[in-house]
Amino acid sequence: MNIHILTLFPDMFKHFLTESMVGIALRQNALSVSLSNIRDFATDKHKQVDDYPYGGGAGMVMKPEPIYAAVQKVQSHPGIPVIYFTPQGRLLTQQIVQQYAAAEEIILLCGHYKEIDQRIRDSVVTDEISIGDYVLSGGEIPAMVMVDAIARLQEGVLGDIESALTDSHQDGLLGCPHYTRPSEFMGNKVPDVLLSGNHKKIDHWRHEKALEKTRQIRPDLLNKEDRS
Ligand code: ADE
Repeated sequence: MNIHILTLFPDMFKHFLTESMVGIALRQNALSVSLSNIRDFATDKHKQVDDYPYGGGAGMVMKPEPIYAAVQKVQSHPGIPVIYFTPQGRLLTQQIVQQYAAAEEIILLCGHYKEIDQRIRDSVVTDEISIGDYVLSGGEIPAMVMVDAIARLQEGVLGDIESALTDSHQDGLLGCPHYTRPSEFMGNKVPDVLLSGNHKKIDHWRHEKALEKTRQIRPDLLNKEDRS
């Protein structure tokens, strides 16, 4: 899978792309990531990428021409998904991550300053994604969130595919509690069922715990479909 990232701050991705699961995915060629600096596509001598908003008001707006030229340059053919990160987008979910993880090529567009020119959103962007109801300075961190979530779903990246299938949100529920050695820590024992060796019982316990946690913390997830 190829991911193209368009940003004004490519250096923000330097360490991110070499460490942990993303680093593994890139070294295994399960994923390739290209970084393009939108400023390189500005044609005037000052390499201007933003300007004052028509109608007045605070903040600068990213100009359309450099973004348009950057998208034209990186896409291997027209019709590649172009995802723009904005607090106005639909909320990112595991389902959306899975959908894009199965694509061959996507373009992630990181805005900065106020927003990008609306005409790019109308004509080039195919999806607008938010990573939560709060405001960041730009789309770079949301793009990292997306790349990380996609990388760990690429074949051969997670050592144990089971571990992806039992993640929180993979089946619409929050995850169950996990324990490792020692069997007793500061007077707290690992639940007996996990030491029983009875996998049917263990699966049942894990499902019940996942339901309990979801009911407590995120009842909205249960209302999406009938799971009781
Ligand atoms: N850009 C700024 N804030 C954002 C958010 N919460 N999600 C996605 N993109 C953003």
